[in-house]
Amino acid sequence: MYKREILERLRQGEPISGEELGRTIGISRTAVWKHINELKSEGYVIDSVPSRGYHFVSAPDALLPEEIRAGLKTQVMGRDIAYQKETPSTQEIAKALASQGVADGTIVVAETQSGGRGRVGRQWSSPEGGIYFSIVLRPDMKPSEALRLPLVAGVAVVQAIKRNTKLDPKLKWPNDIMLHSKKVGGILTEMGAETDRLDWVIVGIGLNVNTSHESFPKGVEGIATSLMEAGGKSISRVKLLQDILFEFESLYHGLAISGFEPIRARWKALSNTIGANVVVSMPTEKVTGKAIDIDSDGALILAKEDGSLEKIIAGVVSLRKLQE
Ligand code: BTN
Repeated sequence: MYKREILERLRQGEPISGEELGRTIGISRTAVWKHINELKSEGYVIDSVPSRGYHFVSAPDALLPEEIRAGLKTQVMGRDIAYQKETPSTQEIAKALASQGVADGTIVVAETQSGGRGRVGRQWSSPEGGIYFSIVLRPDMKPSEALRLPLVAGVAVVQAIKRNTKLDPKLKWPNDIMLHSKKVGGILTEMGAETDRLDWVIVGIGLNVNTSHESFPKGVEGIATSLMEAGGKSISRVKLLQDILFEFESLYHGLAISGFEPIRARWKALSNTIGANVVVSMPTEKVTGKAIDIDSDGALILAKEDGSLEKIIAGVVSLRKLQE
């Protein structure tokens, strides 16, 4: 807590002496010195200017809670942050926190994951440079409506990427984030429900941001890209994460007030799937057809060759005619 206050004061720019810092926040000069050393060991660059005091130079390139909170424009999303430098999967920590009853909007963030999980039992490679986080939600909705949430998250991620880069990512149903036919991000949603009410939903988001192509494992490198690779330069992961949380919060509140329709329209406008001929792979079968719509639950509507319509709730979509 004192560390946060020290950082806030240092960020104002002007150098400040240890004595004055201590006086403003109510701790001793030695305690200030101890916290400054801790900040330095986390990667903050803080100079000691002779006879003037401590001077903030730069923050580390890490998704540290203090960094995420500084300038975060949300009310709820990301207000409570659990940070892990490395962890098997942020989903597991988020689930444990959800069952302990943490607040709506709590996030778990990691720099890398050793056992990152993707949809349909796949792995999610999580090297340094990406953003890997899980949001704990406690939505007041029926389990059947939960499929809307990953679509809401997909729209939020695409809008935040557009805000931070000149790139034009597209959503592939249900929520793959694509750039030039390659995957740049994905969303995994898990839930806990009691009969007809959702208890918690965890929305896990993985994004390849400043990820170098060499760090993708074999077999993935042909189908994956990163924002840095596609845009030719690295971007601030902290700022991107703050913007995703902001976009997500606006849409999530909008969902509660105005329903799914506006988000559905937005999702369709940002998608490469609607209008494309697709093959949907499900555990026991493959269905081919033209993706014509998503319905009010977020399910994909396929027009099959025989003219019949099929509603798809879960599956992996391959586009036969790319519309990116
Ligand atoms: C997909 O298969 O497209 C979904 C990938 C989701 C990956 C994210 S990274 C943060 C969170 N923790 C995980 O283990 N998975 C999700």
